[in-house]
Amino acid sequence: MAKIPVAVLGATGMVGQRFVQLLADHPWFSLEALTASERSAGKPYAEAAKWYLHPPMPEHVKDMEVLPTSGESVEDAEVVFSALPADVAREVEPALAEAGHVVASNASALRMEEDVPLVIPEVNPEHLRLIEVQRDRRGWDGCVVTNPNCTTIIFVLALKPILDSFGVRRVLVATMQAISGAGYGGVPSMTIQDNVIPFIAKEEEKSQTEPLKILGRLEGDEVRPAQIKISASCHRVPVLDGHTVAAFVELEREAEVGDVANVLRRFRGKPQELELPTAPERPIIVEEGQDRPQPRFARWAGSVPGMSVVVGRIRRDQALENGIKFLVSGNNAIRGAAGASVLNAELMKAENLL
Ligand SMILES: NC(=O)c1ccc[n+]([C@@H]2O[C@H](COP(=O)([O-])OP(=O)(O)OC[C@H]3O[C@@H](n4cnc5c(N)ncnc54)[C@H](OP(=O)(O)O)[C@@H]3O)[C@@H](O)[C@H]2O)c1
Repeated sequence: MAKIPVAVLGATGMVGQRFVQLLADHPWFSLEALTASERSAGKPYAEAAKWYLHPPMPEHVKDMEVLPTSGESVEDAEVVFSALPADVAREVEPALAEAGHVVASNASALRMEEDVPLVIPEVNPEHLRLIEVQRDRRGWDGCVVTNPNCTTIIFVLALKPILDSFGVRRVLVATMQAISGAGYGGVPSMTIQDNVIPFIAKEEEKSQTEPLKILGRLEGDEVRPAQIKISASCHRVPVLDGHTVAAFVELEREAEVGDVANVLRRFRGKPQELELPTAPERPIIVEEGQDRPQPRFARWAGSVPGMSVVVGRIRRDQALENGIKFLVSGNNAIRGAAGASVLNAELMKAENLL
């Protein structure tokens, strides 16, 4: 099978580097172009990207020239993965979709637009049907498909099987978010060392609204938001990679802790059924130890490292009706960002949407 040519926008940043890592040796996609800002354009990738990841930068991308972010730079790419800041994405992504590219985006700019799919492949693959609606309404040959914010992906993966089995009325979440979630140079070390920052701009709004769209029902040409009340309090903590969420859930029906653990353990979705290259065998790993999950270990969980989330400390919550509470932790830059977009593109390819 000939590989599909792809490009990464914002390739020098935190998420961009993860894209490069995941796509450098991908069985279906061939990485043809890397773009960033004017600051980086014209430089070899090895010079422009401050690579902080393990393993080291793949040899064959080191000499690739970083291109300016424009239609011309990615004209040969069928799929364009976007790790651009939201304000830049708002201009660039629609123009590329209009020019015929499939844009798989991490940016928040278009996520909540009615005709833009906001997809976690294990949770709401059927929402990809909005691509047709988007093309009809906007007259585009290409399309924009988005993945949620990094915190949302991690806790909604755990919420989905619970919702399907027991119903969910209300969810309270308190997040402990890694510094890599703020991007390269996002939080000064003097601010985050020995500290917890009790505010992340726009994060609570995203964590309260995106899940309702993802868990909503596709009816005709639109998504009816899920009828769940969500309250989020979001915090930055001195962890490099891996967001952890404490979730307190009011169920519609009473459930035993063991039954909740079992539905989480058994959960599989379309990516597992289709054996997509970036799909972990188990999207959710349940750990029994009282001291789990911890981001230091959970960030690499899964048969595809970083693509599973880890749930632990499932217990009853006496303060809520039919209440349960648990912690869930996952890799914000892989399952929460680049890996999420790559999995979306793999699903589109498998469903003949590319
Ligand atoms: N980090 C996460 O865990 C995470 C998770 C989910 C979603 N996201 C979203 O993903 C996107 C990228 O986040 P990040 O953490 O990777 O940010 P980042 O580390 O700050 O990287 C931003 C990237 O965008 C490029 N860029 C900045 N201004 C640009 C411009 N005017 N034109 C073209 N390119 C420009 C930068 O290039 P230069 O190097 O040349 O400046 C860099 O490659 C954001 O929308 C973010 O909200 C991030």
